[in-house]
Amino acid sequence: MGRLPIANSPDLLVGAATGDDAAVWRIDDTRALVATVDFITPVVDDARTWGRIAATNSVSDVYAMGGTPVFALNIAGWARDTLPLELLGDAMAGIGDVATAAGFVIVGGHTIDDPEPKLGLAVIGFVDPARMLTNAGLRAGQVLILTKPLGIGVITTAIKQGRADEGAVAAAVEVMTTLNDVASRVAIARGATGATDVTGFGLLGHGGRMARESGVDLSFSMRTVPVLDAARRLLADGVFPGGGERNLASVVDSLDVDSSVSPEDVRLLADPQTSGGLLFAVDESSVDQVLRELASAAVVGRVGTATGTGRVRITW
Ligand code: CO
Ligand code: CO
Repeated sequence: MGRLPIANSPDLLVGAATGDDAAVWRIDDTRALVATVDFITPVVDDARTWGRIAATNSVSDVYAMGGTPVFALNIAGWARDTLPLELLGDAMAGIGDVATAAGFVIVGGHTIDDPEPKLGLAVIGFVDPARMLTNAGLRAGQVLILTKPLGIGVITTAIKQGRADEGAVAAAVEVMTTLNDVASRVAIARGATGATDVTGFGLLGHGGRMARESGVDLSFSMRTVPVLDAARRLLADGVFPGGGERNLASVVDSLDVDSSVSPEDVRLLADPQTSGGLLFAVDESSVDQVLRELASAAVVGRVGTATGTGRVRITW
C-alpha cells in the first residue's frame, strides 16, 4: 500500500491509513458510501455453507463501520477442471441466502480459473457520516463489548486436519453465519463511536489497532471473554493455526500479560477469526442495555485513559 499514490480527497472520510474495515466516501452531509472487499478459501466441506460464511464475512466490514449494505459483486476463483460447476452454484446459493437475509442484492461479479477455490464479495453500502464506527473512535473509560465467541480459527484448522467432530463444526458454522447487522445497529443506538469486526488478526490484533488509532490503552479480562468450548478442547490437544502464531508475534511488543493468565488463553485471544463478531465500546451506563439487546454479547474489557499509546493488557 505504501507504493500507491496518497489518496487525499476531502470526500474520503476513511481511507487506508487507519486500518479500518471499509473505505468511506462522502456523498453529502448525511450520506456516505461504504466500500469493502473480502474473500476466503473454503473453511467447511459443504459448498452452500461456505457461500453463506463467505458472504456473512464480507458484509461484516460494512456493519463494522456502522453502515447498511445495498449491493455487492461476487468474486470467485474456481478449479473448473477438477471441481463440478454445480458446487459453485451451491456456493452462490449460499451467498444469495445471506444477501436476502441482510437485505442487499448481488448485481454481478467475476470468476477466474484457480486451483484453490476462493469466494467473496465487494460490498457497497451507505452510512451516516455523523454516526460511523471507526478504529479511531474509542473513548477513555468506555467498556469493551464482543458480540461473538472466539475460537473459530482453532476449529477451522481442526476441520482442515480432519480432527473436528460434528459438534465443533456446527458450533463454528453457527457463529460464522451469524450476521453482524443487529450488533451494528445496537452499537450505534447505544452510543458507540469505535468498532471493528474481529477477523484475521484476532481480538488482540484488531483491538490493538483500535487502541493505537484511538490513542488509548485497552485491557481485556480473560475471565469474561466468550470462547467456543470445542476450541478450548482442540487447543488443549495442540490445534492452533499458523496465522495465530503470526498474530501473537506481531502484538507481543505492545502486550502486558498478568501472571494469572495462561499462554493458552493468550493464544485464544490471538486466534484468527473468519466472520467473527463486532468489538465495540460504549459508556458504562449503556452496558446493561447492550447486553439485554444482544444475547451473545459479553463485556470483555475496558478502554483506559486518553493518554494511551496502544498498549493492551490482559488480566484474568
Ligand atoms: Co474487518
Ligand atoms: Co476484511
